Amino acid sequence: MALKKIVILFSGRGSNMQSIIEKLHGKSVEVAAAITNNPNAKGIEIARGLGVHVDILPHTEYASREEFDAALVAKIREYSPEITVLAGFMRILSTVFTDSIKAINIHPSLLPLFKGKDGIQESFISGMDKGGVTVHFVTSEMDGGEIVLQESVPILSGDTLESFAQRVHATEHELYPKAILKVLAI
Ligand code: GAR
Repeated sequence: MALKKIVILFSGRGSNMQSIIEKLHGKSVEVAAAITNNPNAKGIEIARGLGVHVDILPHTEYASREEFDAALVAKIREYSPEITVLAGFMRILSTVFTDSIKAINIHPSLLPLFKGKDGIQESFISGMDKGGVTVHFVTSEMDGGEIVLQESVPILSGDTLESFAQRVHATEHELYPKAILKVLAI
């Protein structure tokens, strides 16, 4: 039986993308392509090294957020994925994207707490005894949308921001592949 196709969107380091490719590509799903808005993203070489095609769509080449999102939607549609997977894709998406693409995102906090780009740091200084990781469907509300899977990560008494962040990332790398399989009902 043909593998279910996904497309991954990323902007930077690409460690979640790497984990998804290593755990799922060619086994449970086909990563049809990885698309980045950042020509300097470290993840470009990682994806290519793991045999995944990369498209580079620099957002700076488009006059508006909506024009970039329209080009992104058109590029994703070339691959007809069952689901689009945002893995550190650091762009606010307009309804041009959210009305046409079924997508999930990973966020490094216990949503709805600590939305935005500093989820790990805000969790760490919150005074709570835990942070976490959330995978959720993408809607026009940033880091909103129905939750697919969520896991908490304890904040230990000896933790530094770095040691806590490391455990959050390790949790992300396990949770995201599981969430993709859940959404695809595999
Ligand atoms: C991840 O920690 C992801 O949860 C976060 O960006 C990082 C990307 O790392 N995303 C957000 O904060 C979304 N609001 P990666 O490029 O190594 O996967």
